[in-house]
Amino acid sequence: MGFLEVFGHQPATDASAPGRVNLLGEHTDYNQGFVLPTPLSYNTRVEASAMDGIIEAYAENFSQRKVRGLQNAKQGDWLDYPAGCVWVLRQAGYQVPGARMHLKSSVPIGVGLSSSAALEVATLRALRRLFGLDFDDVTLARLAQRAEVEYVGVRCGIMDQMVASLGQPGHALFLDTRDLSYRLVTLPRGYAILVVDSGIPRRLAESGYNTRRTECEEACKLLGVKALRDVPLQSMRAVNGLPEPLNRRARHVVTENARVLEGVEALEQGNVKRFGELMLASHQSLKEDYRVSLPEVDQLVEICIKHGAVGARITGAGFGGAIVALVPEGEKELFCQGVTKDYPAAKFF
Ligand code: GLA
Repeated sequence: MGFLEVFGHQPATDASAPGRVNLLGEHTDYNQGFVLPTPLSYNTRVEASAMDGIIEAYAENFSQRKVRGLQNAKQGDWLDYPAGCVWVLRQAGYQVPGARMHLKSSVPIGVGLSSSAALEVATLRALRRLFGLDFDDVTLARLAQRAEVEYVGVRCGIMDQMVASLGQPGHALFLDTRDLSYRLVTLPRGYAILVVDSGIPRRLAESGYNTRRTECEEACKLLGVKALRDVPLQSMRAVNGLPEPLNRRARHVVTENARVLEGVEALEQGNVKRFGELMLASHQSLKEDYRVSLPEVDQLVEICIKHGAVGARITGAGFGGAIVALVPEGEKELFCQGVTKDYPAAKFF
């Protein structure tokens, strides 16, 4: 059902935002490090009109309509995201009396492609336009992250909201999460970026994610730095001297930051082979040191390489979910056939 059918009138405005896949730089954003995500062609569209005192929304993906008062707390459902956006705008002092919204998304949910950031950014864009609010796209990403952390209650970093807000098709967003400075990097011509879902649900992703964050904070205390971003590759001796498992966690973050910097250079020099090697090294580090992979996902990475991917790695928070693979455009079909033969549960996005 469309907006008109659900609410009986036309929307005043609409906006959309994409899902994302991260090419390199995993679990670095909450360590003030570097990331390299790219927007996907899947997106979330929000149509909106003004309302007084409530948030009312219809989610086409669930055929559900929900209403919530402006003062109400989260309820653990999909309305938390748009309600969190209205909440955060009001917290920040913007005049937002309430809204009626129609949500529709083609971003796969629960696979690690940031359907939540797409929804937050699309909602904030629609509200910005609807109420003529004056803030830029970086501020919008910050507000979206605040909505997720403070209202929805997920302690995420800023990567997903930044790429949903500032990413451009055909480009990766090279982002320094310390000061939010960024640069667009052209993706290699003749290569496809494929997301391959392992079909393994992301088990314990939230608690595992929070544990990793705490471990990084402990490693910082012992190393005497503000963030793991401040530890150069040359300090690996000190990192290796940390107690288990802090040594592994810190080693991943420090080497992953270096991989992003080298990866950007490789892309800018057209060295796709090197970029693929860095993706694989990232997977290895996420598997051995950060321990956020699973045997099935490791197997899927190997299968992708066997069938022609130049690089492949687990992507997003991990603990199951999807991998990202870089595949020569001309070999895409053979690649998908081969992977499906060896891993029948694989789904391609
Ligand atoms: C999730 C979070 C991001 C980031 C990744 C791991 O997607 O939302 O902020 O921390 O995990 O790289």
